[in-house]
Amino acid sequence: MALYSEKVMDHFRNPRNVGTIEDADGIGEVGNAKCGDIMKMYLKIEDDIIKDVKFETFGCGSAIASSSMATELIKGKPVAEAMQLTNKAVAEALDGLPDYKMHCSVLAEEAIQAALEDYYAKNPDKKPAE
Ligand code: FES
Repeated sequence: MALYSEKVMDHFRNPRNVGTIEDADGIGEVGNAKCGDIMKMYLKIEDDIIKDVKFETFGCGSAIASSSMATELIKGKPVAEAMQLTNKAVAEALDGLPDYKMHCSVLAEEAIQAALEDYYAKNPDKKPAE
């Protein structure tokens, strides 16, 4: 069996939503200290919906594929849904990642969480009650 699924290869070769959003409502940057890869997510949020999302990833192919897929999974979705996106869901949507590459999908989950936290820090009134 090939090490990487066709979906991983597709999102690695043709990543969706690459770039930045100048007037982003939330920006999150995370990194993995072990491999040194860095991921940055930009969110545009209107009426509690993720209107637009872009990413910049300085990292391995799995990290690029994971961030690309993660942006596709949350675009157009309610913020509450994006908040619950797990790295497992990202990896499943990519038809799997090798075990030792699962941490790459964790970066995608963490980058979205960090961008949403930034959004809530700037818009405390939007934060759902816990
Ligand atoms: Fe670190 Fe992929 S090897 S994010």
